[in-house]
Amino acid sequence: MTQERKILVTSALPYANGSIHLGHLVEYIQTDIWVRFQKLRGANCIYVCADDAHGTAIMLKAEQLGLTPEQQIANVKAEHEKDFAAFGIAFDNYHSTHSEENRELSTMIYKRLRDNGHIASRFITQAYDPEKNLFLADRYIKGTCPKCKTPDQYGDNCEACGATYSPTDLIDPRSAISGATPVAKDSEHFFFTLPAFSDFLKTWTRAGHLQDEVANKMAEWLDAGLQEWDISRDAPYFGFEIPDQPGKYFYVWLDAPIGYIASLKNYGDRHGINWEDYWKPDSDAEVYHFIGKDIVNFHALFWPAMLHSAKLRTPTKLCVHGFLTVNGKKMSKSRGTFINARTYLDHLNPEYLRYYFAAKLTSNVDDLDLNLDDFIQRVNSDLVGKVVNIASRTAKFINNAGGVLSTTVADSALWQRFVDSSETIAAHYEARDFGKAIREIMALADAANEYIATQEPWKLAKQPGQEQQTQDVCTLGINMFRALLTWLKPVLPQLTADAEAFLGETLQWSQPLTFRGGESINAFTPLLSRVEKDKVDAMIEAGKEALAALAPAAAAPSEATSQEEPIAAEIDFNDFAKVDLRIAKIVNAEHVEGSDKLLRLTLDIGSETRNVFSGIKSAYQPEQLVGKLTVMVANLKPRKMKFGVSEGMVLAAGPGDKEIYLLEPHDGAKPGQRVL
Ligand code: MSP
Ligand code: ZN
Repeated sequence: MTQERKILVTSALPYANGSIHLGHLVEYIQTDIWVRFQKLRGANCIYVCADDAHGTAIMLKAEQLGLTPEQQIANVKAEHEKDFAAFGIAFDNYHSTHSEENRELSTMIYKRLRDNGHIASRFITQAYDPEKNLFLADRYIKGTCPKCKTPDQYGDNCEACGATYSPTDLIDPRSAISGATPVAKDSEHFFFTLPAFSDFLKTWTRAGHLQDEVANKMAEWLDAGLQEWDISRDAPYFGFEIPDQPGKYFYVWLDAPIGYIASLKNYGDRHGINWEDYWKPDSDAEVYHFIGKDIVNFHALFWPAMLHSAKLRTPTKLCVHGFLTVNGKKMSKSRGTFINARTYLDHLNPEYLRYYFAAKLTSNVDDLDLNLDDFIQRVNSDLVGKVVNIASRTAKFINNAGGVLSTTVADSALWQRFVDSSETIAAHYEARDFGKAIREIMALADAANEYIATQEPWKLAKQPGQEQQTQDVCTLGINMFRALLTWLKPVLPQLTADAEAFLGETLQWSQPLTFRGGESINAFTPLLSRVEKDKVDAMIEAGKEALAALAPAAAAPSEATSQEEPIAAEIDFNDFAKVDLRIAKIVNAEHVEGSDKLLRLTLDIGSETRNVFSGIKSAYQPEQLVGKLTVMVANLKPRKMKFGVSEGMVLAAGPGDKEIYLLEPHDGAKPGQRVL
């Protein structure tokens, strides 16, 4: 036996300002399948990830929600972990980049870069929001396109005519955050001297760490010449302060990949593992980063250069995947195809998606399409129609005859074909050609089904004297099912666990397949139901609803105004009755110190008074509201916000900003009355 492989695997760290959606899941499911495969084959494999918690976007998102950044990232982390667990993504550790380990490691690595002369500093001029006291990245500046004069275009390119420009060329530029006119302001920034690594990277990117198409892309960038990389941001910023540079913070992308190491360190500290064993230059471990094609420059240029300067090893491989499309198009909120993990889980079994993605994943960077009709057809025909069917057509005859498997291999040529395929399938998994693995597995499932169809055990079982033949045929059926599930175990952990319970064994793939005979199995229970089209349709409708459910004041302004809302999916009365709407009297309304969006309302609902924070400040003065009646959701789970707990929500319509219209009942309604 060769020495046990020691493998560290990561997926990209999702940003802590939004929910996990099906696009993300392409990556996490792909990585999880590969990790489960490695573990099943006996490798010592550790899978770590974390939330990417820093940056301006997260800081602003927290502010918009009335939360501190720490509260915001804690909420999102809990949500992410729950969603990942539901999809069977089995991280060995899920950490955060806003952690002590990451602060320590980022500081250490930065100091090494600095002491090696790879950090430069100089003053640069940037757009600055004089109201918010914030430097503005291009995407936070809006204005009229200098070329086609379309208003309301972002930072550096026009969505209407496609022109690219610098934000200073915009006509009437505005801060997208406050609406103020940006001014130019100087500030000292710190740079990583990437051009010094040009030769190193030209070699590294061709040394087998990258897929060919990725290496070619990097060659284009390397030939065009590298620029120094701005790794600092000015306060206010949510991140780590740069050592000895008060008011200067590490740019989120500096400490994000270091978060991979930090997550390993956090895990290692609890499991007696030294992170340096994996990251020292002569480490015998393999390191794999699974990432999407949009973040290749950070992982194939900046990251190896940083590691090289810091005297740490570089990754063994970057495993780059393409983007998810749904029904051939980019995911879209208005089409209902921008599907959050949670929305999917409300309607469908996560293993369907794991299987579908596996069936379509390759080792290249092509986009992957979730075609919903194909999804239904494929899952039903392959998993229910082929795989599970083998067990359901044979197990009962074993069960009926006492549950003990025969010791005879009824068709040794057929069984040998299964035995011989095991390593081919393993090689496809190893190469991340999951689609090829699945095709091979399904071809064998077809062979198994043909065999059963020819042998017709249901007829044999009725013929006197054919008892042994029935048992032999069905035993081979069960063994073929065992083989198929062993190979599908990395893709379908839940289905496999259920099957293992009925087989009475834990399926192993670290040795050649063995034929199981002479032992008993338990009673067969149904393993998987078909995908129903209704459920898929309901999920798409819910995708549209989730968009409509964004309270007007909480929705991003561009979304609230530009979307025409389709009517949400039909519900029955019981669904509606779950929402307890009450007439509420606004007995007090006041500004909230430190918030430019919220008003604090005190609501009398008869039996009690409630404290509610509402994002209606842009449309109402507190004095206008006191004494008025409105409608509130009285049984909404209380939400902890930066300024206190909000105990419900008032109802309003409109796209936002000045156009927010609070609901008011006709005269005569009394506080506390239920609205139905
Ligand atoms: N925070 C950075 C990664 C830092 S890694 C040190 C980031 N976060 S992300 O939440 O935007 O994306 C996380 C991963 O999901 C990325 O690898 C990204 O490519 C992938 N995907 C996000 N949307 C995707 C699709 N629609 N389709 C496929 N993968 C997608 O980037
Ligand atoms: Zn334009």
